[in-house]
Amino acid sequence: MSRRPMLAGNWKMFTTPAEAAALGRAMRTALMDPPAVDIALFPPFTSIAALVAELKATDIIVGGQDVHPEPEGAFTGNVSAPMLVAAGCGAALIGHSERRTYEKEAGEYLARKVRAALAAGLMPVFCCGETLAEREANKALEIVRGQLSDALAGLTGSEAARVVIAYEPVWAIGTGRVATPEQAQEVHAAIRAWIGLTWGAGLARSMRILYGGSVKPANVRGIMAQPDIDGALVGGASLNADSFAGIVRFQDTE
Ligand code: PGA
Repeated sequence: MSRRPMLAGNWKMFTTPAEAAALGRAMRTALMDPPAVDIALFPPFTSIAALVAELKATDIIVGGQDVHPEPEGAFTGNVSAPMLVAAGCGAALIGHSERRTYEKEAGEYLARKVRAALAAGLMPVFCCGETLAEREANKALEIVRGQLSDALAGLTGSEAARVVIAYEPVWAIGTGRVATPEQAQEVHAAIRAWIGLTWGAGLARSMRILYGGSVKPANVRGIMAQPDIDGALVGGASLNADSFAGIVRFQDTE
């Protein structure tokens, strides 16, 4: 399998600039001689500069947790893709479930964010996932396909090739209730099939699909053993350098 694994840490609304610099320094030490994977960290906007400065001699990608569709304008409280690039970012999370829930983001608005990130040269990490009620109603695959098709279906194949998808079942985020590797694999396989129908088999083989939701050093190996899971988007466990490094070194864990 030629897809390079990607392990990403979403720091959510944690870390001041000083705390982010200290955590970045600890990550640098813990991730000395990293394995052949891509590593990305998503601090709050106000901590991006401090983290970028701390990680400049490394290959770790720093990203924004969100991005506005417009490059600039009267949009109080928002940050644009060119601003993230100028701050040293290489990626942006788009459509995280906490933004879908609390900021009511969905559909075409997220499609515009994906296009804005691509236009600025950022790697969009597009998040999707069903709620517990949707899973219990047997609608998980339908919901995820709908989210993908709303935000990504309008992209050309060469644009889509630069997108990373993160499947995060909402009921597994921050709850300690991780999807079983088989539950996650079922959805990842469906996402890959959707990619194939939308852009063809080549892209279905090459696009990376990350799993997110209570990933820890103790469960990462079973998740990464699944054929359609190419990495992880990690919240809580990415706020500690040793546990995040344990996830990045998933091949070494028992
Ligand atoms: P968690 O968060 O690892 O704390 O469950 C994952 C995420 O929200 O990206």
